[in-house]
Amino acid sequence: MKLQYQLTAAFTALLVVIMSVAAITIYSLILNLLIQDEQQELEAKGNLLVNLLSDYNYENIQKLNLLLQGQEIQLFLYDQRNEQLLFTNLPVPLVENWITNYDITDDKQEIWKAGEESFVVSRVDSYSEQTQIELVLVTPLEDLRAIQHTFFNRLLVVFIIGIAVAVLLSYFLTKRLVTPLTRLKYQLKKIQNRQFDELEEIKASGEIKEVEQSVLEMAHELRRYIQSQRQFFQNASHELKTPLMTIQGYAEGIRDGVFVKEDSDRGLDVMVDEINRLKKIINEMILLAKLDSQENIYQEELIKVEDLIKLTVERALPLANDQHVDINTQVPNGMTLFADKEKLLQAMLNIVTNAIRHAKTSVVITAKVASGSITISIADDGKGVSEDLMPHLFHRFVKGEGGETGLGLAISRAIVEHSGGTITVGKSTLGGALFTIKISD
Ligand SMILES: Nc1ncnc2c1ncn2[C@@H]1O[C@H](COP(=O)(O)OP(=O)(O)OP(=O)(O)O)[C@@H](O)[C@H]1O
Ligand SMILES: [Mg+2]
Repeated sequence: MKLQYQLTAAFTALLVVIMSVAAITIYSLILNLLIQDEQQELEAKGNLLVNLLSDYNYENIQKLNLLLQGQEIQLFLYDQRNEQLLFTNLPVPLVENWITNYDITDDKQEIWKAGEESFVVSRVDSYSEQTQIELVLVTPLEDLRAIQHTFFNRLLVVFIIGIAVAVLLSYFLTKRLVTPLTRLKYQLKKIQNRQFDELEEIKASGEIKEVEQSVLEMAHELRRYIQSQRQFFQNASHELKTPLMTIQGYAEGIRDGVFVKEDSDRGLDVMVDEINRLKKIINEMILLAKLDSQENIYQEELIKVEDLIKLTVERALPLANDQHVDINTQVPNGMTLFADKEKLLQAMLNIVTNAIRHAKTSVVITAKVASGSITISIADDGKGVSEDLMPHLFHRFVKGEGGETGLGLAISRAIVEHSGGTITVGKSTLGGALFTIKISD
């Protein structure tokens, strides 16, 4: 069942329950109110008659008879002292039956019965005190019941109209509430079908608007991810295809006798180099995939920053000597980090070997603590990174002049970000590139 109908049904059910309870309560109260009201009215009429009856004689009784003709007043006069029914416009057996069965001097008894019928009774107190004659006025309860029914039927009509209006109103209100949700559902369907260009903003407010914003952000993120994956596969296949084609070319040339003697030896050397390059690319791709997907390959421990940099320099020294580049370090003692030592060493080595390869004469590694984070900078005096390459430098397979596979910095970024840090590139004061790793300690 649609949410809109569910909400309307729940609201209608609630309304019907409340209205029914109210109707039952009002129905039972109406009769009591009508009886009280009727008693007061009878008493008022009785008090009017008392004037006429103060002088009790035949003439006055005749007048009373005349007065009551055509009126709906029903009454009787009973002489308490002589136990005599003086006057009544009700059937005499009925009144005599009341006189024998009820205490007619008791004005607390509101209802008297006569067979199936009931009557509301009002006894005029003041008159009996003066004359010892009881003046009792009665009204059939049936008359009041008829008023009760009419009143209740009107109330019911008002209730039904009220419920109908409220349900209609609730239908439109829930529709206003639910429509943005339905539209959001269609936007989600588009995301599911990857129709990112067809996404539209929906008219909504409050929490639904916030959800919509989150959904749109999620869609943009997903789109970026899908594009980067696509880019990655394109680049990867290109990077793998190039060495494979070189190997194939030389292998076929040697097999067909196109390359002989020195050419064939040189061909074999190229093939070995290309195979090594392929191995490197594949190893780096596997490492990147592992860094991306496997959480448990990181084994964090407390690392001394000085030890980490010492190890990096030791490993990079053969390449530095080869390239005639000096490595200088400025690392204060006592700084510690919580990270995977081997992985962070790998990240550092990728950056430092890049720096050595691009430096003219020197690479400087510095470390310092500032506002709760440790910053490690690697600067060189080479040509630096070109402005247009900088924004994409940490993406996979992005390489510049003299680049190899273009995966080293992507691996470094994955490791540093997993350690809760950031990595950035800029220009160093030495003239070359400056790489900065920032990790909170
Ligand atoms: N210190 C630097 N100075 C100038 N350019 C640099 C420096 N470090 C990196 N680069 C540029 O960034 C590119 C990407 O570096 P990255 O380490 O990701 O790949 P790579 O060195 O080409 O290959 P590998 O995967 O073997 O490391 C390099 O090709 C190079 O052009
Ligand atoms: Mg590199």
